[in-house]
Amino acid sequence: MDVKKLLSRMTLDEKIGQLVQFGPSIYKNFEEIRWDTLRNGEIGSFIRVRDPKMGNKLQKCAVEESRLGIPLVFADDIIHGYYTNFPVPAAEACSWEPELAERTAALAAKEARASGIQWTYAPMVDLARDARWGRNSEGAGEDPYLLSCFAKARVKGFQGDDISAPDKVAACAKHFVGYSACIGGRDYNSVEMSEQTLYDMFLPPFFAAIDAGVATVMSAFHDFNGVPCAGNKWLMTDVLRNEMKFDGVLISDAGAVGQLQTHGYTEDEKDTAKKAMDAGTDIEMASFTYTHHLKELVNAGDISIERLDEAVLRVLELKNRLGLFENPYADTDMANSIGATEESLALARECARKSIVLLKNKNNILPINKKSKIAVIGALAGNEDDMNDVWSGKTKNAVTIYAALKADNYKVRYAKGYDLKTDEVFVEEALKAARECEIILFVAGEGINYQGYMSGEARNRSDIKIPKIQQELLTELKKTGKPIIAYIFSGRPLALRNVDEAVDAMLWSGGLGTETGNAVMDILSGDYNPSAKLVWTFPTSSGQSPYFYNHNNTGKPPIREIWYSSKYIDAPIGAQYPFGYGLSYTSFKYDNLRISGAKFTVDDVLEASVDITNTGEVFGEETAELYVRDVVGSRVRPVRELKGFKKTGLYPGETKTVTIDVPVKNLGFHNADMEYVVEPGKFLLYIGPDSESGLKTEFFVK
Ligand code: NOJ
Repeated sequence: MDVKKLLSRMTLDEKIGQLVQFGPSIYKNFEEIRWDTLRNGEIGSFIRVRDPKMGNKLQKCAVEESRLGIPLVFADDIIHGYYTNFPVPAAEACSWEPELAERTAALAAKEARASGIQWTYAPMVDLARDARWGRNSEGAGEDPYLLSCFAKARVKGFQGDDISAPDKVAACAKHFVGYSACIGGRDYNSVEMSEQTLYDMFLPPFFAAIDAGVATVMSAFHDFNGVPCAGNKWLMTDVLRNEMKFDGVLISDAGAVGQLQTHGYTEDEKDTAKKAMDAGTDIEMASFTYTHHLKELVNAGDISIERLDEAVLRVLELKNRLGLFENPYADTDMANSIGATEESLALARECARKSIVLLKNKNNILPINKKSKIAVIGALAGNEDDMNDVWSGKTKNAVTIYAALKADNYKVRYAKGYDLKTDEVFVEEALKAARECEIILFVAGEGINYQGYMSGEARNRSDIKIPKIQQELLTELKKTGKPIIAYIFSGRPLALRNVDEAVDAMLWSGGLGTETGNAVMDILSGDYNPSAKLVWTFPTSSGQSPYFYNHNNTGKPPIREIWYSSKYIDAPIGAQYPFGYGLSYTSFKYDNLRISGAKFTVDDVLEASVDITNTGEVFGEETAELYVRDVVGSRVRPVRELKGFKKTGLYPGETKTVTIDVPVKNLGFHNADMEYVVEPGKFLLYIGPDSESGLKTEFFVK
């Protein structure tokens, strides 16, 4: 389709229509849709039409009954699967295997596209540094490098090489930008950030997504240093368009354009439409200031026709790239035949077991001996809905932990123990089950409580411990003297100090989706040796938030005994579990760290190698993490920054050399003048199992 020619035939109303998206907050059911509006070409896209028949009906109206027959594009939040639910993105990132994320994204794209959805609002590439923020689970953690690797992989998985393919969708990197740095961890709250932090920490994952060819970007809700993103010309046009060279569709978040007025940034609806358009917002999602005022603004010359045309052209190009002019309809037979398959379930199980982090394993109590009688205690072990977590796809069925144990003929006694919805605890029933067994499997953490999901959009928490009723129950269970294995689910890093102190072993993961129980069984039984590692720092208490590993040193680094040092008087200095941490059923020894030289130029690629030996008794996979510290900088540098990682499998007694390449140009930062510089001088380099340990050496940049 020659979209430029098409554009030249469009009326002003038809053009504006392409910039309007109908969303879930706009209609409760399809009866409320004004079909005449659609017929007039005044709606360009829809969000969350999950019934392909309904989608086709809407499409037919647009394609066959409107003057120019421009197809609609259907968008949805395909965040961790559509029919098959994979682990939530941050859980999946704990695999430290971006190629795994590429495969799950590709499968989600296949299921979604076959169901008539051509555009997903994923991946979320917000750097998550504050555990209180509700949306930690949707990204890939607190590190810009790791997040960038997953951003790239997910875009590739969703889009492939050609988004017109019947198994691909357009991706959307969101939320531009700094959304996760909301003050107090409170979703939608203001963000105050230096330009250097923006460029060094928050923009790299967006650069990575753009580099991977992401078709669309979504702006965020919050005000960035006082200017709401949807109306922020500096961010949207100067930075995103001109500097980052993003040339796809820029869509606002749901209602965010309308909210410019609520922020107190615009006078009225007309001023709102003008500022959003001026800033660079192409599509307005779920508010209607463009519908109501763009025509008047363009006619008055307040918005140039060039700016309008540019936005419309991008939308038409997206539709063209998706092949919608040729194939606008969903194949309903195919859509009906889509469901979980052997292949999708196998991938879901592989991904889920690679997402489970072993945090503690005193006396190697795990894996569980199959002959032991196990008391499975905790409602989260038996509730399917809780396994899928937020943004789950079209189907919600999942294998629970209890169901998987039973199916595998373990000797189990189950007690609900607590009810998050009613906030009740059932101590007696739990103790009875515990007394009848040799081991307690205590399943707790965040699920669906009386207020809904405990993590997700607007689900911020000021206290990031496990719920009080669960802690109460754990205290009672501890009194039985039986060994306790805790399995903790959450959509954010939790403060697990009290749990750690009470239990012998602990596993953690985010929501794992359809195959939860089977994957957990793989780990409990030892059929799969845990290999996942945390993608956020787990603090010891809520008050440490925001706590991230790649912080600066301060002039008074924390030392318990020193009064005037940067510490808390009522909390430990360090993390409960550091970024990058995760145990295995075997042990690994790191030896012989060496690098390919002592002095490098900015154009060199440094090669660092280490020998890793499996010193335990079972096969295991280990992710070696490479960190760098720039010792002296014209701006103070973080104590460590992840610059590379590699996962490798080792048999007992086996030694392998792991080599990680680091382009020296990646070791820079933005200086006081906002220039990206790699400053000459001494650097420290670490390779190890997490962000707080490892072997250390040094090198110089000339
Ligand atoms: C609001 C969320 O912030 C965004 O991530 C999502 O894509 C839209 N709603 C659409 O559902």
